[in-house]
Amino acid sequence: MAAQYDLVVFGATSFVGQILSHYLAQQFGLNGELTWAIAGRSERKLQALRGSLLQELGDDAKHLPIIVADASDETALQQLCNNTRVVVSTVGPYALYGETLVKTCAATGTDYCDLTGEPQWIRAMIDRYQDQAVASGARIVHCCGFDSIPSDMGVYHLQQQAQQQFGQSAKRVKMRVKAAKGGMSGGTVASIVNLTKEAVADPGLRKQLANPFALCPAGHGFSARQPNQKGAQFDRDFNAWSTPFIMAAINTRIVHRSNALRENAYGADFVYDEAMLTGRGGKGRIMAGAIVAGLAAFMAGAAIKPSRWLLEKTVLPKPGEGPSPEDQLNGFFDIRFQGTDANGNTITTKVTGDRDPGYGSTGKMLGQAAAALALDYHKDKEKVGKDGGFWTPASIFDERFIERLTEHAGLTFEVLD
Ligand SMILES: NC(=O)c1ccc[n+]([C@@H]2O[C@H](COP(=O)([O-])OP(=O)(O)OC[C@H]3O[C@@H](n4cnc5c(N)ncnc54)[C@H](OP(=O)(O)O)[C@@H]3O)[C@@H](O)[C@H]2O)c1
Repeated sequence: MAAQYDLVVFGATSFVGQILSHYLAQQFGLNGELTWAIAGRSERKLQALRGSLLQELGDDAKHLPIIVADASDETALQQLCNNTRVVVSTVGPYALYGETLVKTCAATGTDYCDLTGEPQWIRAMIDRYQDQAVASGARIVHCCGFDSIPSDMGVYHLQQQAQQQFGQSAKRVKMRVKAAKGGMSGGTVASIVNLTKEAVADPGLRKQLANPFALCPAGHGFSARQPNQKGAQFDRDFNAWSTPFIMAAINTRIVHRSNALRENAYGADFVYDEAMLTGRGGKGRIMAGAIVAGLAAFMAGAAIKPSRWLLEKTVLPKPGEGPSPEDQLNGFFDIRFQGTDANGNTITTKVTGDRDPGYGSTGKMLGQAAAALALDYHKDKEKVGKDGGFWTPASIFDERFIERLTEHAGLTFEVLD
């Protein structure tokens, strides 16, 4: 039986799921180019969300279909998957609640994208369900938010430009966050805390997390030593002080997997790292030192049970909480890439977003990733494009996705020199 919907938003009532639902309503209306439904575990919350979509959908809002399903209910998720071509999930931490849906998508051939930034969980999902996804044709795309679309598509964009300008790809790329403004949600905090808890308890996992190629397919053959910035450093290329960037832990792994899945398009000895710039001179240095100390304190606090409890109960946002609409609107990000090819030619590019990275921009990026799967990777309701399997944004998507992001999601991709 043909699927009823192009897209189902699972976890529509989460902090970021609500942003995504409002965005989809505003971009696609109800039954136009994209037919969609909202899903989650609480019918009451889903109805409240539907009520809040009156602004975008008018009276049509009451016709937006609701599907009630718990993340652990395989039968309900099977029904959900049989009714849609694509599922987009914001139910996290994914390591706690995400597996049944990925398993069901891989079994039913349903395309899937999400917002996880949890490398250990992605590795486990690939190992368990890649063969089934290949057999069923399900295209699974993790990391479709601020981690890791700007990094992954930013490197893809830089490499396209390098090919055009130099006839070869850049074997060394640096990504630097020049500026960003935004906050954190309870779901993100819960994911970081859960990952820290798992890593503290499992030395094998700590080893896996330290491996830059941890998400690459078997036999990738990559061995180039990757930089791993631990403290404050002066970066001559960007003429500024820099600190470690917390999202590098997932973004760098995704970028290397993209390289592997794109048949080493960036080179078998490709070197990539990410850091955050804090400015020049004494002020930049002090700021870098303060960020490094703050990060270390947060990680130490999250690693130890009593301080973790205190952090969760006091300063950190709870599940369902996050930056205010004003903070999302006033947020932004500006990241820079510098690529160098084997002959020493360099190219600098910039990727920006017009909302706070983790929520306002993430909601739009995730919406466009889901729309790309539903509209660009299906024709006359049949799958077209890539085969089934676990992809990354830059290995499944192409120029059309950059167009979607720039035309409809407030991102820019620009060559600076
Ligand atoms: N990649 C990125 O850049 C990025 C950015 C932002 C967020 N994230 C990730 O996205 C995820 C969501 O973040 P958030 O702040 O929006 O989280 P949140 O507000 O805490 O929402 C979590 C959602 O999971 C649902 N849920 C929990 N257990 C469930 C179950 N058993 N069955 C069905 N649904 C269940 C909750 O349902 P109820 O609504 O009914 O409580 C809620 O909708 C997190 O994993 C976060 O790390 C990633």
